[in-house]
Amino acid sequence: MNTYNIALLPGDGIGEEVCMEAVKVLRRIEEKYAVEFKITGGLIGGAAWPEFGNHFPNETKALVEKSDAVLFGSVGGPVNAQFEPQWKDCEKNSILAIRKFIGASINLRPAPIFKELAHFCPLRSDIIGDESFEILVIRELSGGIYFGEHSRPDANTALDTSSYDRPTIEKIAKFSFQAAQNRNKTLHSIDKANVLETSRLWREVFETEAKNWPEVQFHNLYVDNAVQQLVKWPKQFDVIACPNLFGDIISDLTSVFPGSLGMLGSASFGSKIETGLQTETSDMRPVSKFIHLYEPSGGSAPDLEGKNVANPIAQIYSAAMMLRHSFEMHEAADSIEAAVLKTIQTGFRTGDIYAEGQDETKLSCSEMGDKICEYL
Ligand code: IPM
Ligand code: MG
Repeated sequence: MNTYNIALLPGDGIGEEVCMEAVKVLRRIEEKYAVEFKITGGLIGGAAWPEFGNHFPNETKALVEKSDAVLFGSVGGPVNAQFEPQWKDCEKNSILAIRKFIGASINLRPAPIFKELAHFCPLRSDIIGDESFEILVIRELSGGIYFGEHSRPDANTALDTSSYDRPTIEKIAKFSFQAAQNRNKTLHSIDKANVLETSRLWREVFETEAKNWPEVQFHNLYVDNAVQQLVKWPKQFDVIACPNLFGDIISDLTSVFPGSLGMLGSASFGSKIETGLQTETSDMRPVSKFIHLYEPSGGSAPDLEGKNVANPIAQIYSAAMMLRHSFEMHEAADSIEAAVLKTIQTGFRTGDIYAEGQDETKLSCSEMGDKICEYL
């Protein structure tokens, strides 16, 4: 039987309650498949502050290093408390820091658009259509303006630098073409090559890689045109590859199509990192491994905290992505996605996707978790 160590970092707000539903689903998977999940909880974000005075304490780093994968909830505090030490820079210090810690470089942000929920999509019904579809945003996570130098050379000047190197772009280009090849064989790469030098290199690398994928319909799009196209005709897109900052923005745009942020899971793939020394044999070789991180795309929604009303589907999808990408458990991941689809099709809804007078059953967060387990 395979055993996997999972670091569970629920974080703040609704993180705890939605993570509990994902754990329920993982326990159900253990009953169905020959697998054991050793799930260990840790503190991150504002939740870590009272005990450690730090948003990503060393204790949590040690837990992450010992784990095969990280299931992350969400971090951040109420808007009106952002100046308090517990919440100031909380997202930056926890989510950006943990991505850096695992060497996260490729980020998958799928936006599943269910025809059953199309009335929640802010686009006109003739644009969103009456068929279900999914757009997958693949965001580069390790480079660009996020990780360049940020400074204030003097009181009236601010500086953010952006850089990309060829190997970093090659890595995401290969991954994105492979994803497109496995799906609808359409790939859009987003850049601003009419202005930015990093984008010119990005485009050059993607065009070179395109030659290895003759079956994939490949398109370059400037980011400003891409946002227009996405709103006017989203169905022309399937896989979209973006540099870090554009991926941040584009994935927020696509995140509104499913009708609720509560429907979007995500995966961030780590790079090989050294996590200690091999102690079982005498040669003390360094141990290195990949640790991937899975988190919902939505925020911590402090106003919903403790009310048992949040939608746990994003967290459950993230857990399914963990099974697929970290543990190669494709059948189990498929079965979770099928169970979610069935709950939607049979009219079960949390408040964010519930419409009055539609022959739907409104469920709490924990009831939604139970229903998905029942269908599993
Ligand atoms: C995201 C978020 C983060 C980012 C913030 C919280 C730093 O917006 O995951 O998209 O910009 O990457
Ligand atoms: Mg964002």
